[in-house]
Amino acid sequence: MSNCAIVGINWGDEGKGRMVDLLTEDYDVVVRYQGGGNAGHTVINDKGKFALNLLPSGIFRDGVVNVLGNGVALDPENLWLEICRVADKGVTINRNNLKISDRASLLLPWHREMDELEEQRLKDKMYGSTKQGIAPFYSDKYQKKTVLAGELFYAKELKEHLIDLMEWKNLTLTKVYGARPYTEQMLDEWITAYCEKIKPFICDTSAFLKNAAKDCKKILFEAQLGSLRDLDYGIHPYTTSSNTIAAYAPIGSGFPGAKIDRILGVVKAYSTCVGEGPFVCEMFGEEAERLRNAGGEYGAKTGRPRRVGALDIVATSYGIEVQAATEIALTKLDILSNMDKIPVCTAYTLNGERINRFPFPSALKNAKPVIEYLDGWMCDISKVREWERLPRAAQEYVLFIEKSIGCPITYVSVGPERDSIIIKT
Ligand code: GTP
Repeated sequence: MSNCAIVGINWGDEGKGRMVDLLTEDYDVVVRYQGGGNAGHTVINDKGKFALNLLPSGIFRDGVVNVLGNGVALDPENLWLEICRVADKGVTINRNNLKISDRASLLLPWHREMDELEEQRLKDKMYGSTKQGIAPFYSDKYQKKTVLAGELFYAKELKEHLIDLMEWKNLTLTKVYGARPYTEQMLDEWITAYCEKIKPFICDTSAFLKNAAKDCKKILFEAQLGSLRDLDYGIHPYTTSSNTIAAYAPIGSGFPGAKIDRILGVVKAYSTCVGEGPFVCEMFGEEAERLRNAGGEYGAKTGRPRRVGALDIVATSYGIEVQAATEIALTKLDILSNMDKIPVCTAYTLNGERINRFPFPSALKNAKPVIEYLDGWMCDISKVREWERLPRAAQEYVLFIEKSIGCPITYVSVGPERDSIIIKT
């Protein structure tokens, strides 16, 4: 059996979607195991350009079964609208190629509103949420104040459960935030408009995965965001509210006994970060603007401009360590093609000392980047498909990173399309 997890090493948006889309050729099952509609995996293939939020990126491959595991924040409204959007472009989505865990918790109608209200309350201290309800959802999940997808098959009990939760949530909404309360009618409308639509896809995905493994099917675990956004190992409190690391894949997928032999970490050839929080390698001014525009660094879901910076060896090495990555895909190398000197953050200085180890979150805001410059290649590499054909300076940039992070780079991506990839042995 050979399973693989594709994970982000940095702040997210590394290009995991394009790597999953590429690798699904060799896998039978693709599972999303954490996060929710706050992700924005962009995939470009023969069927068009797609921004996937909840659907696993294997949805485009014939014969691949896609699973939304129990660890995801299952937003029925967003999921249903996404299914319609993708299906409208000619992609087949049915019960054979999409399965939703009956143990996935539902993101309830008030979670997105709670997210928005809390960010407003925090004002200039806000976390930079995507306002998709993820933090309120996960805190309610751990308080056992959500419903499981499988409860949709028990209409009477579901209704009672939802009304209990609504009455409890209305207290916070009205008394803490001064917002309007939810009503039974609003719940009924939500159930009819969205929950009933996704119900046919809900099943016991744990049994499915166990059988798939028994039949020697190859499983690909698809993560959202990156190491530095992991709830336990990321830059607290500027993290997401779930575990983005590969170690969580067996739990969040519904296959707790899964063994993952291959962990492919995705690293972008430069750094980007959405939202608030320390970002030591950040670039500003015209240089930043040029890189942002070259890389189209605007959020797939929110359209927010991403903060950009040099590739950060300190943060990347830490990200690789917490993911236990066995190999790396380096994406967007083509974006650096117009830079005659390419900055790389090779260390930090903290309190006058040079450090290579990623510091505790509270110390990060005082860390300063140590920048070294490597030669650029100043030519278009987007058509290159073989390592030997990459300009020397581009090879040296990749090899410098590989040596600095201490993990083999096996893929170099030079464009968003499925085939814009160099396999480096
Ligand atoms: P999150 O899970 O939300 O973190 O997303 P992600 O890691 O899948 O990344 P996302 O798709 O948001 O961002 C990557 C963007 O870069 C997409 O628009 C891709 O089409 C694009 N992309 C990926 N690889 C390459 C590449 O090698 N070159 C270029 N030019 N674009 C790329």
